[in-house]
Amino acid sequence: MEVLVFGSAIVDFICYVPRLPKAGETLHGTSFATGFGGKGANQCVAAAKLGAKTAIIAKVGGDAWGKSYLDHLEKEKVNIDHVQICPNETTGIAQISVADGGENNIVIVSGANELLSESDVKKASDLFRESKVLICQLEASIEATIVALKEFPGISILNAAPALENTPSELLEYSTIFCVNENEAALITGFPINSLGDSRAALLRLIEMGASTVIITLGGQGAVYMKKTNTQEMVHVPAEKVAKVIDTTGAGDSFIGALAFYIARFPDVPLHQQIGGACEVASISVQFPGTQSSFPDAKQIHTDLTKKQFAWKIL
Ligand code: ATP
Ligand code: RIB
Repeated sequence: MEVLVFGSAIVDFICYVPRLPKAGETLHGTSFATGFGGKGANQCVAAAKLGAKTAIIAKVGGDAWGKSYLDHLEKEKVNIDHVQICPNETTGIAQISVADGGENNIVIVSGANELLSESDVKKASDLFRESKVLICQLEASIEATIVALKEFPGISILNAAPALENTPSELLEYSTIFCVNENEAALITGFPINSLGDSRAALLRLIEMGASTVIITLGGQGAVYMKKTNTQEMVHVPAEKVAKVIDTTGAGDSFIGALAFYIARFPDVPLHQQIGGACEVASISVQFPGTQSSFPDAKQIHTDLTKKQFAWKIL
């Protein structure tokens, strides 16, 4: 495989609202939708849509959602040999509110995702041996995720979301690339990020905590990264300005899935170019509603990274 995902599959229940509700408030929404989500499956589908050969190791519940999620992944051409239906569990669910302007908040109940374990890593040893890039997130068992990262011989990307205040050091040490958004970076490091310049302290702290390469995504401002081998340089890759933001849910996931695709397909291209490609994909996703439904495919964008140049700057 080019991209292997070890992580979550969740069904999204999405309410579109004029603004996000305050604590204790009941609001009239404007519309409702269900969608296939979960950071792991979203990232896997993002890579598959661009043309990557993908597989996911995940667990769903023994309910109607579990079965329909498997059918959906097959339609997206994701290998599901290692997706297990757990008869006595519910499929993970997410309750999502999306406000006019695209801002969201999300509550997840992991359900079957919590049952992913070390033995699932062992059972998929062939995939672990042969895949180019592994992606993990933090919506399934943390212990199992640490084992997955430790065992993987190739390039691993950890999207440390939802963020933990006390992130185990193994998560930083065993991943090749540690990627979070600005709020997650602030929670993990204790350094708030209110401007591009603020990112430097958080990047340095994450490297101090054990990470090798850190990427922080910054919404409409794109992303920044720093490598342990050169902490003098923070590199900024800006995102394209978009005409109208409709729904940012899953923007980070499309970024991660696209990054994994570009790293697997174009391993010799510089990281700022691979990130530029990921930003391009993510900036398309924010212009459409839903999570996976908003991710572009290889017909919508040119995926040959050797024929494109994205803006970047050393700060
Ligand atoms: P999510 O809403 O899925 O939790 P996130 O918070 O993890 O997303 P962001 O940092 O908001 O991730 O966005 C990820 C990437 O999506 C950015 O690096 C950027 O490339 C793209 N993006 C997000 N918002 C915008 C925007 N307003 N305009 C253009 N691109 C955007
Ligand atoms: O990143 C977006 C995802 O977070 C949603 O699809 C939801 O399932 C939650 O896991």
